[in-house]
Amino acid sequence: LQTETPARLNHTSIASPTQGVHQDLLTRYNHLRDHTEELVSKLEIEDMVVQSMSDASPTAWHLAHTTWFFETFVLLPYKANYHLFDPSIAYLFNSYHETLGPRHPRARRGLITRPSVKAIMAYRQYVDAHMRELLCTERTANPKAVVELGIAHEEQHQELLLMDILHLFAQSPSKPVYDEHGDAEQSLLPSKFISIAGGLISIGTTDSDFHFDNEGPAHKVWIEPYEISDQLVTNGEWLEFMRADGYRRVELWLADGWAINQVEGWEAPMYWEHHVDGWYQMTLRGLLPIDEDAAVGHISYYEASAYALWREMRLPTEAEWEHAAKKGLLRQVDNVGWQWTQSAYHPYPGFRAADNAIGEYNGKFMVGQMVLRGGAHATPSKHTRLSYRNFYRPEQRWMFSGVRLAKDSC
Ligand code: AVJ
Ligand code: FE
Repeated sequence: LQTETPARLNHTSIASPTQGVHQDLLTRYNHLRDHTEELVSKLEIEDMVVQSMSDASPTAWHLAHTTWFFETFVLLPYKANYHLFDPSIAYLFNSYHETLGPRHPRARRGLITRPSVKAIMAYRQYVDAHMRELLCTERTANPKAVVELGIAHEEQHQELLLMDILHLFAQSPSKPVYDEHGDAEQSLLPSKFISIAGGLISIGTTDSDFHFDNEGPAHKVWIEPYEISDQLVTNGEWLEFMRADGYRRVELWLADGWAINQVEGWEAPMYWEHHVDGWYQMTLRGLLPIDEDAAVGHISYYEASAYALWREMRLPTEAEWEHAAKKGLLRQVDNVGWQWTQSAYHPYPGFRAADNAIGEYNGKFMVGQMVLRGGAHATPSKHTRLSYRNFYRPEQRWMFSGVRLAKDSC
């Protein structure tokens, strides 16, 4: 009995499709959790507990919150006789699920020093052991959909964790290096505009693979003929905007953007610093001179909109972006940076959020934010699918967010 290998643990002897699915999920789960821990292995404990602004969360919080998600949405409902690791976890690490009860205020996540990072790692291991057991044993109910959501959720937090670390390190006068071997900025080829016929097109996912609820339903959209750049705006092009006094020319700015520009004294993208020998940018590889041929990043919607107006162009709508991307006309859709669209983050026609705590995931944020498409270096690869809708408020700029231009065909 002891030497018997359970058939479901062995890829070559999968007896039924259901068991095969669980083996695949288990592999993906293990890879996900290892990758998160690899990302944080470059940090010191001191880096992991502070919160540099209310939009950002401490690393330790990300580690615990993603674990809480699996515990709450997978283990509690699907694992027989599951006991919570610690009943006080939910109050601290529930992000925003109102239907699951009260929680610690977001802006004070950096004051949570207990549970310690050590205890949070023990929490991760406890949940991992139960998840592995769950995915290896026969059950009556199938948790596949919610395990996939948990995986996609932690992947989103892998990118958030890097955004938040960069923001934290940028506040430090010592300009710490997160990863000296990280990907260097990519030099972009000269851009060209592609003309695309208008008409009745279809956007939204038709994929049976995992996708977030906000990516559907697929639906028809009417678009006028347009042109869209095959590349993102570069740092060099952004410098031209700065030299043309773009940050001070009120006529280029949306009123809300001008207000924050004035209050915060914007004069360059976030993380840019002017030194005697020119502009530098804080990156995950430390403080580096600006590479004029690389895509500009850490741009707010307000800056993107002012820049487009200065070039006598505009930002693409998300329908224009998705249509061009599906035709294979955009170079570098998936790793040079998220791209602001001029589309508000609204529900697609026919969208209906689930009537439970999982329904709070995306639907309730569908006001006051703009859609970004594409993806950045820090974005897990599956999230760069062409129907993916990222979303942020127009003033936010700690994301890896850049600009792709479009214009109306004349
Ligand atoms: C899609 C990145 C805007 O940060 O709120 C994380 C991702 N959702 N946990 C966010 C998310 C739930 C989301 N963004
Ligand atoms: Fe989350």
